[in-house]
Parts: sequence; structure tokens; C-alpha cells
Amino acid sequence: MKLLLKDQMIYTSYNDFLKSFNIPEKIEYSEYKSKLKLLAKYGETYEDAKLFVEWANESELWTDELIEDFCRRCYQVFVEAPEMFLQNWYDLHIKQTARQNISGITNCEDPKKPGIIDGSIKTEYGRIVKNLFWEDVYSTYTTNSMGLPTTYEVLKKCVEHPFIYRMWKQPSSQKFVAKDKQLNSRLFGILRGTSSKASIFNPNTAGYIISNILKSEKLFTPCLGWASYLIGSFSANVKHYVGIDVIPHVVDKCKQLCEEHTSNPLIGDDLKFDFYCCPSEQLDKRHNFIETYKEYFDSVFFSPPYFDLEVYEGGEQSIESFPNYQDWLKGYWEETVKICHSVLEKGGIFCFVIVPQYRSKNETIFIGDDLSNIAKKYFTDIGVKQIQWKTQTSLDVGKQKEFGNSERLYLFTKKS
Ligand SMILES: C[S@@+](CC[C@H](N)C(=O)[O-])C[C@H]1O[C@@H](n2cnc3c(N)ncnc32)[C@H](O)[C@@H]1O
Repeated sequence: MKLLLKDQMIYTSYNDFLKSFNIPEKIEYSEYKSKLKLLAKYGETYEDAKLFVEWANESELWTDELIEDFCRRCYQVFVEAPEMFLQNWYDLHIKQTARQNISGITNCEDPKKPGIIDGSIKTEYGRIVKNLFWEDVYSTYTTNSMGLPTTYEVLKKCVEHPFIYRMWKQPSSQKFVAKDKQLNSRLFGILRGTSSKASIFNPNTAGYIISNILKSEKLFTPCLGWASYLIGSFSANVKHYVGIDVIPHVVDKCKQLCEEHTSNPLIGDDLKFDFYCCPSEQLDKRHNFIETYKEYFDSVFFSPPYFDLEVYEGGEQSIESFPNYQDWLKGYWEETVKICHSVLEKGGIFCFVIVPQYRSKNETIFIGDDLSNIAKKYFTDIGVKQIQWKTQTSLDVGKQKEFGNSERLYLFTKKS
């Protein structure tokens, strides 16, 4: 019984999810139609947005009949039965089903393709991360999505305001707005490709790296990556996990996950764990971290924040402390690397995952090389592997995915 109560606290049930939406009193259809607006960009307010009917009247693609049909469908879905729309979204994106439960680690490397880690194996394991951190993941604004609203923002506005989303303004997409699970899933497909959310790290891939490449028993992760590395560690041979992040509820949930994991008599794991809610670059100043863990860990593994590629909310985010890229490299990255060097044993492995480069505002940031060059000042480079997340979809092409869907795992060792 105690465990059940704890579970309810960490995991998101449909009822918890529904509580995040303030569904208003129902208004009449004529009022809805006259107030319906088009949501075009991130942060756009109701006042800024265009009235849908006025906009559609000027567009050659929309006839009066189509406009009427579309408005009626939106009314039915978002005003008459918003709970059903939200339930369909919940079921398809964040609900945990048996198939998505973690059960062991699946191999991600094929000897015929050296240097490539297949990150698309067991992507369903990512579902637990989305269930635990859906609000954070779907509220993250990314540079890649170039002004598009976040997924959470779109969902909220659809059911809380007479707002629809700009991708649905194509007459062809109007048929997907319907009180129908299958049609909704097409609409959600459009939404996934055209709204912003954080990338998540497949826990199977993390578990594979930790158990098969690092063979880690004492692991330090200088950020928590929405618990993916921890969940991967549960299936690896990690005996002591030390994790850091700046978002308090991410740290709390990771602690609770560990408590749940170690108290489960069926698992019987004696994993030790310590968590700190602190910027990694400040760990020594605030927690005497180096003295506590001097040359202790056999491995450091994480996917650090990507400067301004993804903007997370909560706590002392590295990009808020260091908004300028050069300052960020020195103040966040180099300071974190130095601490990692001090707490890693000789012969231990320091590694991180990041995109090689991305476009930020008007310049290309070669973040992979920049982070790696700083790491080389302290560690010895032992190679790079490529992580192939998934094959590119046509919807991704519109977004800025210069490297398809691959990232790099940069590996180093400590010689002295
Ligand atoms: C989400 S991960 C990076 C994305 C990656 N794809 C992943 O999921 O592994 C980045 C994390 O770094 C955390 N973070 C940001 N600034 C930090 C800092 N100064 N010290 C430690 N963690 C930080 C963020 O809160 C976020 O949880």
C-alpha cells in the first residue's frame, strides 16, 4: 500500500495530467467561432493572434463551407469533449503500458558497423521518462523549432482558449480534428513534428553505454537527463550512482525512483545513491565535492545542456548563469570538466554525448569540438562513437536536423 502511494506521487496518471488543464465553462458555438484565433509562434498572446475566420476568408484555400466545417469540428473536440482529446494524447504519449516497462538492456552495437551505437533500439523505454517528466519535456523550447510553440503550450491553448494551431490551418488537416482516436493520432503526428519539446535520452542506450562500454560500478552523472541514465543504471552493474541537476523536482523524483528501486524485494538491489541539486560547476564550492569523492568514480557519463539549443526551465540553468557562449564554455563546461577530473580514478573514463554542431541565431556552433577540445586539456582522448537515434522523418526535415538524428559520444580517459 505504501508503495502504491509513492508510485502515485512519482508517475503521472491521466487524472494528474488532466489537473494541469483549466478547462473553462463551455461557451456557445457562435461565440467560439467568432473568437477562434490562430496560434502561430512561441509565446504569442491571444491579443497578438489573428482571428481564424477573418484569416481564412482571405485565403483562397478555404471556402465558407470548409471554414464552417472546421470550426464545428474544433468546437466538438475542444469545447464539447476536451477530456477525450486530452485522454487520446495522454494514451499515445505518456501513458505507461506493459510493453514500455524496462526489462534489461538490449545490445546496441553491430560488429559489422564499428563505432555506431544504435539508439533506436527499445525507444519505448523512453516512455517512462515522458511519463515522469512530461511537463518539463513538453515545455522545453528549442532553437531547432524556430519560433514554434511548445507542445504543452499548444495543448493548453487548444482546450483553454479558442485557439487553434497554425499547422491545422491547412484545409487538408481539418479532417484530423475529430472526436476519433485514429484521426487524432494523425493530428498528433503533425503536432509532434511542428511543436517544440526537449530531446530525451533513450534509457536503453544509456544503460548499454554504462554497462557494456563503461562497465561502470561507481558512476557520476553531472546532470540527470530526465532520469534516463539512472533508469539505464538500474539494469547495469552500477553499485553507487551520484547524480546532479539544477531542477529540484528532477532531483527529487530521481531520489524517489532509487528508493522505490532499492526497496523492491523482488529486485533486491543494494544500489547506493547520492543526489545534489546544484550547478555542477559549483559542486566543490557548495558541497566540498572533491574532498568527498576524490579519485572515487570509475566513470563519468552525461549529455550536458546544449547551450541554447534547448532551453530548460527551473533552477540555476547553465545558460542563465552564462548567457554568452564563450563564458558558458569556461564558466559551466571547463569548471565541470575540472571537477570530473578530480573525482575520477586513474584509468577511469570521462564521456559525454552531444550534437556535433547546430545553428544558433545566425551562427553555427561547433559545440562537439568545442567541448571536446576543453576536455582534452585535462583528459586523454580515446575516441568518438556515433549514436544513431532514429531515421529521419519527412516532418523532421523542415526542422533543423543537420545531422539527421545522430549525436556523438566523446570518450576520454584519465592518465594522471
Ligand atoms: C536534459 S539534459 C540534456 C538533454 C539530453 N538529450 C538528455 O536528456 O540527456 C540537460 C540537463 O542539464 C541540467 N542542467 C542545466 N544546467 C546545469 C548545471 N549548471 N549543472 C547541472 N545540470 C544542469 C538541466 O536541468 C537538464 O536537466
